[in-house]
Formats: sequence, structure tokens, C-alpha cells
Amino acid sequence: MNFEFKGNKFQIETLNTLNLKETYEFCENNSDDLSLSYEVFKGATIESLFFHPELSLIVRDTNKQIICFFMLVFRPSYVPKRKVGVLKFFVVEKRLRKQGLGTEIYKFLIRKIKLMPEKDIWMKLEVMSSQPDYLFPGLNPKLTSALLFLRNLGFKKYNERINLIVDLKKLKSDKPPEKKGNVKISRATIADKEKLMDLAFMPIRYQLISWSEEILLSYQNKPRSTFVAKLHDDKIIGFATHSVGFPGSFGPIGIMKKYRNNDLGKTLLNWCIWDLKRKDIDSMIIRWIDENVLSFYSKTLGAKISNIFWALKTRI
Ligand SMILES: CC(C)(COP(=O)(O)OP(=O)(O)OC[C@H]1O[C@@H](n2cnc3c(N)ncnc32)[C@H](O)[C@@H]1OP(=O)(O)O)[C@@H](O)C(=O)NCCC(=O)NCCS
Repeated sequence: MNFEFKGNKFQIETLNTLNLKETYEFCENNSDDLSLSYEVFKGATIESLFFHPELSLIVRDTNKQIICFFMLVFRPSYVPKRKVGVLKFFVVEKRLRKQGLGTEIYKFLIRKIKLMPEKDIWMKLEVMSSQPDYLFPGLNPKLTSALLFLRNLGFKKYNERINLIVDLKKLKSDKPPEKKGNVKISRATIADKEKLMDLAFMPIRYQLISWSEEILLSYQNKPRSTFVAKLHDDKIIGFATHSVGFPGSFGPIGIMKKYRNNDLGKTLLNWCIWDLKRKDIDSMIIRWIDENVLSFYSKTLGAKISNIFWALKTRI
């Protein structure tokens, strides 16, 4: 497919296994202050649950060099049967910035969405936060040129989200206890899946967000990266999940209200840390935390704020 910009004809192709490595290298060389491993890039693109090849655009110049990569996905909306568009990658070659190329590619993508047969697309576009399958909960505003580019396209900030970081090297590697009073802690089993997915032991607001799907994604990890707290009759009263999105990420975690403040949250966290340390992972990123649990993570793990993200959206 050809794409005309300022009188030049550029070639457009979609992302696939053959051009993935080259696209990854292009992104690494042209993203300011942001770096991913190849495996994480692959997981966030062609291996992602929401990967839509038609909405991944690679632009090549006349020398066949990649000069631009944009990728859009749809995530489920909290409004049933709707979807929200999310701009997950948008990278223009450093030397070609501020010439309108990114804006043209963005408009090209929007035209593509509008021609799509799906009737259930919520006409809202967000940036980065493609939960349950996401890398970042919004845009890091330190990426100033990216922020200005998005503002120019009409994106507006509507919220802030916090990630924390924990230095795992400073924490003990001991295996945590398998029992806490009369509560058993273990890795989630296949039999636990359904009960975990409906999250009936948690207040309803947690059932309405993407936690169930995030837990489900942890079942794809080997071994499964969710731990559960159960009573003697196998009733689940809490869980903690890690490494959804990328190895070393943490969340969600939840304890049934009645059983909070009994060190169960702390014990489940320690199981996740033990699991990560066995994989030689040095730091843990607790993603998208509620401000009111900052002291829980700070007290139990010495967690510190690593980044603040801006939630951005626009209507299309
Ligand atoms: C956050 C949560 C998992 C903590 O689980 P918990 O089993 O109650 O926590 P613990 O008993 O292990 O607490 C360990 C320590 O943290 C403290 N703590 C727990 N929750 C806290 C909170 N919300 N604010 C401040 N301190 C808190 C406890 O007092 C305890 O401190 P201590 O050792 O000095 O007594 C639980 O409150 C919960 O399920 N909340 C709702 C879901 C949620 O918000 N998840 C996090 C999303 S990012």
C-alpha cells in the first residue's frame, strides 16, 4: 500500500513476524527515555490479545528504511459490549519529526477505524492504557514531545495514575509460609480459575474493571503467576497476581473485606516476590495503584513512586 506525504510516495505495511525485529529496533532507536526488551515488545504487539494487524502501520521511505510505526488496539469498555480505541505505539523517526508525518499517519488510522464494520466501537481514543493487556497505565508526561504531539491532536488529560518500584535485591529470598492461621496460600490451580474470574469475594467495583481478565492472562504464564488465599473449605478469600504485561509487573491484588489487616495481603505479596526472585528479576513495578494503598506498599516493601502517568483521551 502506498502513502503520499508532501509529494513523496511511501510504502505502508502491517506488523508481522518478518518485520517485527526491525520494527523493534526502529522503536528502540527512536523512543526518547523509553526502552523495552524484544520479548516485551513482541508480547505487547503481535502476541497481544488485542493485536489487530490492520491497525499496525509501518511506513518505509524510498530506501525501504522504517520511518514511522503506529499501532492502535481496541480494549473492552466498562460500558458492556463497547470497545475503546487505544493508541499503543506512535514513533516517528527522530530526523523526520515536526513535519506533519505523525499527524498524517494518525489521521490515516482514524479513517481506517471509521471504515471498520464493527458497530460497537466507543468513539473514544485513549493512550497506552489497553488494560487488561497493557504496558503503561497512560503517557509518562516526561515524554514531552509525545505529549505535545497528542495535545495537538486534541487529546486531553483526565486523570493521573501512579506506578511504584520495589528493589527486589534488598528483599529476602526465603520461601513464605504456606499457612497463615487457618488460611492456606498456594499457587492458583485450574480449579480456582472460575472463582477467581468472577471475583465474588471482592466488592462489586473490582468485578467491573479489568481485574478478572488480568488474572486470566496470568494463567498463560508458566508457571501461573497468581497466588490465592483459601479457607479450609477451599473458599477463596484473596489473591495476588504478577507478571501480566511484562515480567516483574505486579497487580492486581485483593483480600475479602472481612479478612483484611491480618497480614494476608503482605503474605501474598511475599509469594509473588519469591516467585520473581527465583527468576532473577531485580525490580518489581506495581502498576496503576490506588493512592490509598500507597502506604500499604511503602510499609510492607519500601516501595517508591517510579512514575506518574497521565490518562489522555479524545473523541473521534
Ligand atoms: C490492599 C490490600 C490488598 C491489603 O491487604 P491486607 O491483607 O489488608 O493487608 P495486610 O494485613 O497484609 O497489611 C500489611 C500492613 O499494611 C498495612 N495496610 C494494609 N492496608 C492498608 C491501607 N489501605 N493503607 C495503609 N496501610 C495499610 C497494615 O496495617 C499492615 O501494617 P502493619 O504490619 O504495621 O500492621 C487490601 O486492603 C485490599 O484488598 N484492598 C482492596 C483492593 C485494592 O485496593 N488492591 C490494591 C490495588 S493497587
